[in-house]
Amino acid sequence: MRNLLVTGGAGFIGANFVQYWLQRGVEGQLTVLDALTYAGNRSSLASVESDSRFSFVHGDICTPGLAESLLRERRIDTIVHFAAESHVDRSISGPDAFVTTNVIGTHELLKAARTVWLQEQAVEGPVRFHHVSTDEVYGTLAPDDPAFHEATPYAPNSPYAASKAASDHLVRAYHHTFGLPITTTNCSNNYGPFHFPEKLIPLVIVNILDGKPLPVYGDGRQVRDWLFVRDHARAIEVVLERGRVGEVYNVGGRNEWANIDIVKLVCALVDERLAADASLAARFSASPASRGAAAESLITYVTDRKGHDRRYAIDATKIESELGFIPEETFETGIRKTVDWFLSNEAWWRAVMDGSYLRWLETNYAPSV
Ligand SMILES: NC(=O)c1ccc[n+]([C@@H]2O[C@H](COP(=O)([O-])OP(=O)(O)OC[C@H]3O[C@@H](n4cnc5c(N)ncnc54)[C@H](O)[C@@H]3O)[C@@H](O)[C@H]2O)c1
Repeated sequence: MRNLLVTGGAGFIGANFVQYWLQRGVEGQLTVLDALTYAGNRSSLASVESDSRFSFVHGDICTPGLAESLLRERRIDTIVHFAAESHVDRSISGPDAFVTTNVIGTHELLKAARTVWLQEQAVEGPVRFHHVSTDEVYGTLAPDDPAFHEATPYAPNSPYAASKAASDHLVRAYHHTFGLPITTTNCSNNYGPFHFPEKLIPLVIVNILDGKPLPVYGDGRQVRDWLFVRDHARAIEVVLERGRVGEVYNVGGRNEWANIDIVKLVCALVDERLAADASLAARFSASPASRGAAAESLITYVTDRKGHDRRYAIDATKIESELGFIPEETFETGIRKTVDWFLSNEAWWRAVMDGSYLRWLETNYAPSV
């Protein structure tokens, strides 16, 4: 039994984690702390709202004293820290929010945990601060370089990656200096249900359905290692249960794909689904498939992202061999589930795509000249 504080639980991965955790039927309370920024959607938590173990606190992790009072009042023994500014493109157009939330916000949480758990000893039993981080802290790989492992030197290239790297170092320092029981996971790119449609895979799905251009950065040959989001949730659970305190675990899908190949695969899957189901073709009447054309016709190459990392790949040997974690979903099954989820949950993605988001898309995906 654990009492969890899940920061950023209304975001993409956080919401999937909360659903996964509560579906397992564990005892104990789960509190989500989320500021509901553009990326946070309370609607992603609709399926757990009536669960008596669940509660939601609308708040900012940077607010001094907020996390501290939650830990004390709710007897929280486990923090799973997802809250972050997470989109690389936004960190290029406006880095300040990344330093504030990812660095200062993480530090506020660490201070709260140290005060309540270590200094006041206000919570009985084992405690854990689990920090959710990214493979982007390791920088970029050439095509034949070995994949990132836990001892790969940090070389963050974007303001996003640098802010996550800084937060990783603070988490490590609170363990070494103050003895805070921490674990960290550095995970590769996630995909799946509730993914905000400004990221590659959901953007491609919803733009095909609306008959809009599919923006592909540069030559589209950037390689990422993709993991189904529920497998990420399982990995965090495994690390909470069996991970060694103070350790870092890399999490990945051993599933490297070039962006352009993903876009073409998603095009083929959406075409296939609409060809097989006349009611879907009628509902998404702007999509190429509904008029007998191929979704690939929408692909539009746009100016590459500044400093775009070429390749990320995760060596997941440590979590596999030490904790026995293996992803359940293959890319073939996971991507089909993802396409089907977006086909079945149009109300969700229409609601999260408001005006400010659309204006942001227009300024960030400029056609290449
Ligand atoms: N998406 C990926 O592929 C990926 C891969 C590896 C690691 N990660 C890490 O996982 C975590 C979650 O990523 P995601 O894709 O779900 O992000 P997301 O942007 O979808 O969600 C972030 C959540 O944090 C909340 N938030 C932002 N600032 C906050 C603040 N100051 N106080 C409280 N809440 C705040 C947002 O409202 C949102 O609900 C991040 O730490 C990210 O670095 C993401």
